[in-house]
Amino acid sequence: MAPHGEGSEEAMVVQDENRKPISSILIVIAMQTEAMPIVNKLQLKEDLDSVFPKGVPWVRYHGVYKDLHINLVWPGKDSTLGVDSVGTVSASLVTYAAIQALQPDLIINAGTAGSFKVFDLYGVGSRQSFSTPNLLKELNLKAGKLSTGDSLDISPQEEASIVANDATVKDMEGAAVAYVADLLKVPAIFIKAVTDIVDGDKPTAEEFLQNLAAVTAALDQAVTQAVDFINGKCLSEL
Ligand code: ADE
Repeated sequence: MAPHGEGSEEAMVVQDENRKPISSILIVIAMQTEAMPIVNKLQLKEDLDSVFPKGVPWVRYHGVYKDLHINLVWPGKDSTLGVDSVGTVSASLVTYAAIQALQPDLIINAGTAGSFKVFDLYGVGSRQSFSTPNLLKELNLKAGKLSTGDSLDISPQEEASIVANDATVKDMEGAAVAYVADLLKVPAIFIKAVTDIVDGDKPTAEEFLQNLAAVTAALDQAVTQAVDFINGKCLSEL
């Protein structure tokens, strides 16, 4: 007889959390070009008194949008090379520090991604993101399995593994954000807009740069619509 074991109490706490209105969202974005349209749309302001360790390039924008406290973090420019700090290392570090400092109810990792010619293999990720069937339906978004690696191009071995695991989009940060979110038990969702066809005819980097501006506008729209949908809801309604 164990009606109230530790496991069930834990499950009840999670259930209660899922039924509270979401009040704080953390948006994690790797590139300044991807971040700024969203910062402007949601009228977020840069934090001049950083919650992050002194000297790191990480940038936080924040504000209140409708009923939500929104924080958007961007890992900033690499201090030596002056380029955006893309990739898994900076994404995991900034996500960890932001969760610790800001205690969000929900994380959105938004960004661009590469896709594949065959885009009909939808699957469940090996690290399951927070399930949002209502949000997907309302915004008419496609659900897919995301593969993350620290480069824009892929080796033939990586491509074989992506195909074997039914991944349909490829980015450079998602798995890192998912790892940290899972570690600290914060639900996370991933919104990716496609800039390039990885196994298409055009060189990936060229296609990525060609499409970046237009795709960033689509990303901005999808993220804003998602935030509007999330406003006033609890996790279990997503
Ligand atoms: N972001 C946009 N396109 C990408 C690609 N092909 N690989 C990784 N990240 C990307």
